[in-house]
Amino acid sequence: LEHKTAIIGLGYVGLPLALLAKQKGLDVIGIDVDERKLKLINAGVSPFTDEDVTNALKSATPPLSVTSDTAAMADRDTLVVCVPTPVDATYTPDLGPVIGACTGIAKVLHKGQLVIIESTINPGVCDEIIVPLLEKQSGLTCGKDFYLAHCPERINPGDEKWHVGNIARVVGGYDPKSLQLAVAFYQKVITGSVKPMGSLKEAEAVKVVENSFRDVNIAFVNELAMSFTKLGIDVVNVIDGAATKPFAFMPHYPGAGVGGHCIPVDPYYLIEYAKKNGFDHKFLSIARNINNGMPAFVVERVAEALRTANLTLKGAKVAVLGLSYKPNVGDLRESPSLEIIDELKLSGADVAVHDPYVTKFDGAPSTFSGEVVFGETAAISGNDILQTIAGADAVIVATNHREYSDLLPDDFLAVGVKAVIDGRNCLNKDAFEASEIIYEGVGR
Ligand SMILES: NC(=O)c1ccc[n+]([C@@H]2O[C@H](COP(=O)([O-])OP(=O)(O)OC[C@H]3O[C@@H](n4cnc5c(N)ncnc54)[C@H](O)[C@@H]3O)[C@@H](O)[C@H]2O)c1
Repeated sequence: LEHKTAIIGLGYVGLPLALLAKQKGLDVIGIDVDERKLKLINAGVSPFTDEDVTNALKSATPPLSVTSDTAAMADRDTLVVCVPTPVDATYTPDLGPVIGACTGIAKVLHKGQLVIIESTINPGVCDEIIVPLLEKQSGLTCGKDFYLAHCPERINPGDEKWHVGNIARVVGGYDPKSLQLAVAFYQKVITGSVKPMGSLKEAEAVKVVENSFRDVNIAFVNELAMSFTKLGIDVVNVIDGAATKPFAFMPHYPGAGVGGHCIPVDPYYLIEYAKKNGFDHKFLSIARNINNGMPAFVVERVAEALRTANLTLKGAKVAVLGLSYKPNVGDLRESPSLEIIDELKLSGADVAVHDPYVTKFDGAPSTFSGEVVFGETAAISGNDILQTIAGADAVIVATNHREYSDLLPDDFLAVGVKAVIDGRNCLNKDAFEASEIIYEGVGR
């Protein structure tokens, strides 16, 4: 194949891939249903905060060609699907976008085309849903007329070392030819290694397993954090101690909750598929429940700290530093901060928030009101941390943004703050404990 490529879904996964493939000399078009996003990309602007994407969009000559017209896929030989795979409010996997994208593909599908699914899907989705859908609607046969592969994306937005170009990949194919064509595509585009898997199902399972691995490990240390709070042991010191063991221990750290489009979502895809096939993944479900409970645990710690200051959550002013789910990016998807804010409001607290990376509330749940300074509805104050925390009774550091870790007790004392809850264990604990501030970490 020449790898004349269409990338379908231009989000955190699809847009960097489209830009990289273009840089590697491939003829690429991007397809998305979101006209607002297409407009921004056409104007050379990244729809999300990402320096690499911003630079690549600026330097792309000619600019990356994008459209919402799925007919543009017809003259492509390689179609890469990068649409979202979320869960709904009851944590049930929603394959709607994948089915939507594949239905669009089926309409233009013709002999010789290679379809690659990059979206995270549970084992069985390719064989049981995508192949029948593509074959039925096109009248073609997979492995004979067209080819299908799965290559789960592993991109970690904001990571300075690992990016779409150098992360190793695994690929599963419907048949040997599908596998060979897809491996050749990735070998053209990335410098990371490409490992062929034995089947589509194996490749699908790799992704849900690696993210479940992370979820389970984080749940373990989160449980330790809750236990050690009662036992009066600093869990971070213990983990750092255990990490001196040169084999068979891998440090993970507790925190205010697990967010993003992957870790708190992907395990449900495996749990649900196993359940349909008669297996109950108890371990994964417990891990999910523990991690989902961390925002509530942090709010409890705030209440406890306020009690020490003879205050109650009801009527207290609480500032939340950090809205996004991870440091130094503006991604709000499944962010524990939003849960924390909701819980605080339900308890009757007056909430202010600060996040220098978030400029919009797209993606926030509809219950999120957008109030960001005490008492008033206003725009996010952006870079003025001190203005946000001024007059707060308690402050929660909910995201480990680089702007927060250097804050010192005096910064808080100067504006009247009584308690600081370090939801990411990123502040200098010793300095806070030596001050008049009531300090609580997560498990320390
Ligand atoms: N974000 C990450 O860090 C990450 C990492 C690895 C894997 N993944 C997986 O990759 C997939 C994509 O994630 P993302 O973060 O890029 O999502 P995203 O929401 O940022 O982007 C997905 C894009 O697909 C578009 N879209 C939805 N339905 C469409 C359709 N029918 N046709 C064309 N476009 C459509 C949306 O408008 C959106 O722009 C998911 O399965 C996710 O689990 C994400």
